[in-house]
Amino acid sequence: MTAIRKCLFPAAGYGTRFLPATKAMPKEMLPLVTKPLIQYGVEEALAAGITGMAIVTGRGKRAIEDHFDISYELEHQIAGSEKESLLDGTRELIERCTFSYTRQNQMLGLGHAILVGESLIGNQAFAVLLADDYCLTEGDSVLAQMVALYEEHECCIVAIEEVPTEQVSNYGVVAGAEVSPGLYRVDTMVEKPAPADAPSNLAIIGRYLLTPAIFDVLRATPPGRNGEVQLTDALQSLAAQGKVLAYKFTGTRFDCGSIDGYIEATNALYQRSREV
Ligand code: G1P
Repeated sequence: MTAIRKCLFPAAGYGTRFLPATKAMPKEMLPLVTKPLIQYGVEEALAAGITGMAIVTGRGKRAIEDHFDISYELEHQIAGSEKESLLDGTRELIERCTFSYTRQNQMLGLGHAILVGESLIGNQAFAVLLADDYCLTEGDSVLAQMVALYEEHECCIVAIEEVPTEQVSNYGVVAGAEVSPGLYRVDTMVEKPAPADAPSNLAIIGRYLLTPAIFDVLRATPPGRNGEVQLTDALQSLAAQGKVLAYKFTGTRFDCGSIDGYIEATNALYQRSREV
């Protein structure tokens, strides 16, 4: 069994870039073809051997809880028809995983969301998955790649990719020494720097493996960029002690928090579904 048993999904954000679609529907429920974004996230975590899904929700997010539950009326309705199999994948997740929820009642940043999730995680290392970064891989899922690294290194790991310099201000950015191909011992982390201030073009994408030490550090982290408690700032404290690795994952990431990325992911998945 893997050392990482739980995955935290911060899912309280408003998704204002997708209004009006997200007025009454969580952005995590936007579909790529027929599956909601958060289901891809849960599938990725499960593919990494993680079965405990810990979801930080907020107002207007009940559809997420309903999605990962049995819908008796609907299932009764389609039982025995050719539509029944359309729910097989979701059913399997419900059977194999546990889902726990808590609410973030104030939007004070990603770092704050992680702290709110502490009650669901406890004193153990855990994964964090931001469902609007959708990752398509040929082999192991991105989290599975990271869990394998965690078993070797037992420290915090962030997934990174190179982005064009003019885009660094959308991301947490890391710098450090490359200790093996694609793996960096991080010494500097900056949340959404201006291109001129960025220490590199290595951007954090929404996959993290964190040790429980992060919780105490987050409690002591003052609000940073945009007046929010930033996970990147808390990780910088651990990086200064040599406890953070950054990993250039294998696969393609789509920024489904942006309309362009969302459409690209939809097209890529549609294409793939036509090929099989
Ligand atoms: C968050 C993090 C940022 C990271 C990004 C990845 O930002 O704060 O460091 O690079 O996720 O998607 P957000 O996109 O929530 O503004």
